Formats: sequence, C-alpha cells, structure tokens
Amino acid sequence: MNNDTKTAIQSIEWRDDHVRILDQTYLPGREVYSDIRDVGRMWEAIKKLRIRGAPAIGIAAAYGFYLGIKELSENSFQSFFIEVERVAEYLESARPTAVNLHWALHRLKTTIKAHKDKDISELKEIVLKTAKTIHDEDKRTCKKIGENGVNLITEGDRILTHCNTGSLATGQYGTALSVIFHAHEKNKDIRVWVDETRPLLQGSRLTAWELMNAEIPMTLITDSTAGSLMRRGEVDKVIVGSDHVAANGDVANKIGTYPLAVLAKENKIPFYVAVPFSTIDMELQEGDNIPIEVREEDEITRFNDSEVAPKKAEAYNPAFDITPHRYVTAFITEKGLIEPPFDEHFKTLVK
Ligand code: MRU
Repeated sequence: MNNDTKTAIQSIEWRDDHVRILDQTYLPGREVYSDIRDVGRMWEAIKKLRIRGAPAIGIAAAYGFYLGIKELSENSFQSFFIEVERVAEYLESARPTAVNLHWALHRLKTTIKAHKDKDISELKEIVLKTAKTIHDEDKRTCKKIGENGVNLITEGDRILTHCNTGSLATGQYGTALSVIFHAHEKNKDIRVWVDETRPLLQGSRLTAWELMNAEIPMTLITDSTAGSLMRRGEVDKVIVGSDHVAANGDVANKIGTYPLAVLAKENKIPFYVAVPFSTIDMELQEGDNIPIEVREEDEITRFNDSEVAPKKAEAYNPAFDITPHRYVTAFITEKGLIEPPFDEHFKTLVK
C-alpha cells in the first residue's frame, strides 16, 4: 500500500520540538491540528480522547514522556530517574486499559536504565530517538498486520467492525482497518458495516470518515443493529482491534465488542482480532485482570450540549469490555495469523 494513499492520515507527528496531533474530538466536522509542548497537555489530550486508539496512545505517551523529562534539571542519574518514574506514572494515569501506553513507557524507562552511564542531556536525546522509533515501528507493524490479514478476505465479503482502528488510532494504516484498507487496495469487492460505537461514536465520527476518505463502500449502523444483520446472514466476518490482550487470548476492546463476539459465534461468523504484538500482555494470565476504564457519566447522560437523561440519573460508563478467548477465531498480527490455542502460540512467538 502506498504512503500517499488517502489512508495515510497522520494522527500524530513530531515537529522539531513539539508534537502535532489531529484533534479527534472535532472530527468529522473539522480537521483541527493542535500543537502539544508539555506533558500536562499530552495527559489531557490522551484523557479527553483528542488522540486515542491503543497504538496511538502508546506513541503519544512516548512523545509526552520526552516533553515531561526534557526540562528536568537533575544532575545525578538517581535523582533524574526518580523524576522519570514520576512522569511515567502521571502519563499512565491518563487511561488505564490500553497496554500500549504502559508498554511504551516501560520501554523508555528500560532504555534509560540501559544507558545510565551517559550524561543526562544524552539520555534525553536517546528518549526522543526511542519515541520516534516506537512511532516508525508502529507504522511498519500496522502495514504488516494488513498484509497478513488480507488473504482472509474473500470477494464480496461484508465485514463488520466496531470503534475506530484506522490510521487515526495508530501510527498509520491501523489494525482491523489496515486489513480492510489492504483488501480494498487489492481491488477486492468488500463492504463494511460500521457500528456507530456508543457513547463517543468513534465508529460514526472516525471510522466512517476514514473509510469514506479511502472510498471504501460502507454502511453505518447502530450498535444494536449488528445482531439482526448477523442472523439474516448479512455479515461474513467481524474484525476488531484491541487495547489489551491477556496471555490466554482474552481481549479487552471498546464496550460492545463482547456481545458482537457472542453473536458472531451464535451465527457461525468468524471473529478476528487485529493487534500489534505489543498489545499482547504475557504478564497477565486472563482478561478479568485487565483494568477497565470507567468514564464520566455525562458521556451517556448528555449528547453534545443537551441533556438526554433525567437530571441526576445514575449512569455507568465502562469504556471497554472483555471477550473471552473462546469467541476469537484468530488474531491477525505483524507476526502472522495466530489460531488457538492462543496461550501456547503466543509463548512460541514471544520467544
Ligand atoms: O476509547 P478509544 O477510542 O481509545 O478505544 C479504542 C478502541 O477500542 C480500539 O478498538 C482499540 O484501541 C484498537 S485500536 C487500533
């Protein structure tokens, strides 16, 4: 797939001394870019979903970490590293579910430790270089995910997807959407059912926007329409991304993914999860140990500026759910297609 196609949206970019993000809260109405020059602004951007999607959050955290440590004036490695830990903890508190955030920060801290004999100023430059590497690697990884998944797609497929897993959610191309972009690039005749994805509408605002930019046939549906489409035989495959995969293959993804997986199994439809290997957490045995972000009630009780629930109505707004691994047909990763038993196959590939 060419870099200059319409799928080459850059959700995040390093520019000389700051980060530029495409602020996703304004899409699809306006393309607003904002410049981030300090760690506090990056924390806010991640928290408020200005930049979102697990791999993109990892990249944003890596650049945010550099912004947070670049002005530190500590001279000794020990006192510098205390501050480094503080900055990493702060960024990690922005969103708890996406393991990529933790993964990127852990990688940066490990890199710092490995170069502890260097000057602090050199260490800061090494951090920036590593953040750029994380960004570049993600682009290559997502391209590979698309290439590895494309053979699963057959002529005439009607593919259902949830949330947003495209270039906006990653360095480029996306995860589940990378497979779809690559299938389209190969002139496969496909159509995509796009779940609107309540409550923040990443499907209707972002996925529909990306697919339409790429001129891929798509139809927007409410989340609750998916089941009846499946029962009527109008869905051939479900492909989603994930924010955190446990070592046994249990999947955390946008709320509403679990019911899709159950419905897919009931209707004998393959259910694929497209992820970079960095989303697979070999330290966590099963999905119930994955921390689930619970967001503000007013994301449900308000819509734009209007109240859509009685004043003081209690609401519960978990941003993610867990899909047990038995519902997953296969993972599509940069290392290839991974079929059950996932725990064994993950272990072999990690080695
Ligand atoms: O809350 P969001 O919009 O960050 O949630 C994103 C998702 O659930 C995506 O499906 C997931 O991060 C995979 S992204 C490539």
